[in-house]
Amino acid sequence: MRIYKAKDYNDLSRKAANILSAQIIMKPDAVLGLATGSSPIGIYKQLIEWYQKGDLDFSETTAVNLDEYVGLKKDDPNSYAFFMKTNLFDHINIDRNKTFIPDGMENDAERECVRYNGIIKACGGIDMQLLGIGCNGHIGFNEPGTSFDKETHLVTLSQNTIDANARFFDSISVVPKHAYSMGIKSIMQARRIVLVASGENKANALYESICGPITPQVPASILQLHNNVTVVADSDALSEILKHHEIGSGGHLI
Ligand code: F6R
Repeated sequence: MRIYKAKDYNDLSRKAANILSAQIIMKPDAVLGLATGSSPIGIYKQLIEWYQKGDLDFSETTAVNLDEYVGLKKDDPNSYAFFMKTNLFDHINIDRNKTFIPDGMENDAERECVRYNGIIKACGGIDMQLLGIGCNGHIGFNEPGTSFDKETHLVTLSQNTIDANARFFDSISVVPKHAYSMGIKSIMQARRIVLVASGENKANALYESICGPITPQVPASILQLHNNVTVVADSDALSEILKHHEIGSGGHLI
């Protein structure tokens, strides 16, 4: 695992965008696993800027998103489909037929999860998976206690996640209680993983995930077993780790 310390959110966004763009340049038909939430917004802005400058071409790229709220339509401003459309897809030349996100309006959970797993397989697997991390250590919407062997599944969101995501909604009572999420097994099958974390509220989760025991109670701790993970985090998010370790110039913990 390599850990890059970013000065601040802008620096984090540029560093992580560089990694994603290198993947797209090296393999124009790459399959990117994408995330939503606050963490990747700066990365997407940077990718859009480089696309507009003519430095990036998404025409052959496939995007497979991590998760979607159950019960929100694609055009609901709080849906992750809407987030991806407004924060990235509307501004780049990706083929919309090659963008995938679980269908939050499908009531038959088993059918939707089988369909989504089929999409990931049909794409040939994920070349690079972008992840944020929840304050409780979740990745995707795999909440603490979720077994590591799940592919896409129906999740009951934890109160911690509902509280954290309430900032995007008019009131906490309308935050969906369920989501479809790629499972840990799906995430671990990605060839490369880039996890980004910003802010002091992520410091404990990041420390436990990287330096603590591997346990379903801290879902991101499983990443210690993946052979190609890059973490890009700002100093606030790294503050707990930096109390115990230094990070060398190669990005390794010392
Ligand atoms: C989003 C996702 C979540 C978020 C995490 C951090 O698609 O899967 O795991 O990455 O909740 O969210 P932010 O970035 O908003 O702090």
